[in-house]
Amino acid sequence: MEALGAAEDTGGVVIGRMRWWQIDAAAQLERDLFGGTAWSAETFWSELARPETRWYVSATEDQGIGGQRLLGYAGLMVNDRQGDVQTVAVAPSARGRGLGARLLGDLLGEAARRRARSVLLEVDSANEPAIALYRRFGFERISVRRGYYAPHGGDAWVMRRPVPSTSGGSA
Ligand SMILES: CC(C)(COP(=O)(O)OP(=O)(O)OC[C@H]1O[C@@H](n2cnc3c(N)ncnc32)[C@H](O)[C@@H]1OP(=O)(O)O)[C@@H](O)C(=O)NCCC(=O)NCCS
Repeated sequence: MEALGAAEDTGGVVIGRMRWWQIDAAAQLERDLFGGTAWSAETFWSELARPETRWYVSATEDQGIGGQRLLGYAGLMVNDRQGDVQTVAVAPSARGRGLGARLLGDLLGEAARRRARSVLLEVDSANEPAIALYRRFGFERISVRRGYYAPHGGDAWVMRRPVPSTSGGSA
């Protein structure tokens, strides 16, 4: 399913399908953001190896000499018309520029293309920036998993958003 033929370039940041050569940078960003619970490079390899049920996008910025810097990434799983946001992450230095919204919007567009009926996600109840982002996209809390996040024992909110059949994932 190659729905994203051309990557979207806005303001010098390109949102496009995540590729294997971005895995090491993504795993490094994971370690910086999530420490002991970070996804390993192997986990990214395994996710990217399942394109029939997975959709990963990246946000990259040109560094001027042919190099590109990974600013963020996001992943979706769709099984039996049920979508799940696997991850959304933006480097601290690139936050507040709308990249999280663009990455999430891309996932929701793909969920619609794959005819998901709704999209679920789990988020730490203390993660205000992420919850604000998800609410802005119409996600609502449907349940709480107490003590879900080790080691601090934080609660997880399960949030859900219906997917309108013609949705392009607009904010
Ligand atoms: C959550 C995250 C992806 C947001 O990325 P971002 O690029 O800064 O998000 P955007 O710039 O697109 O902001 C979108 C919305 O998020 C919310 N938001 C972003 N930063 C926020 C902050 N510091 N405080 C409160 N709300 C915030 C706002 O609702 C914002 O909408 P606005 O621009 O109309 O104010 C980013 O903070 C991140 O990577 N956090 C660490 C990883 C993480 O927690 N991922 C989610 C796991 S479930």
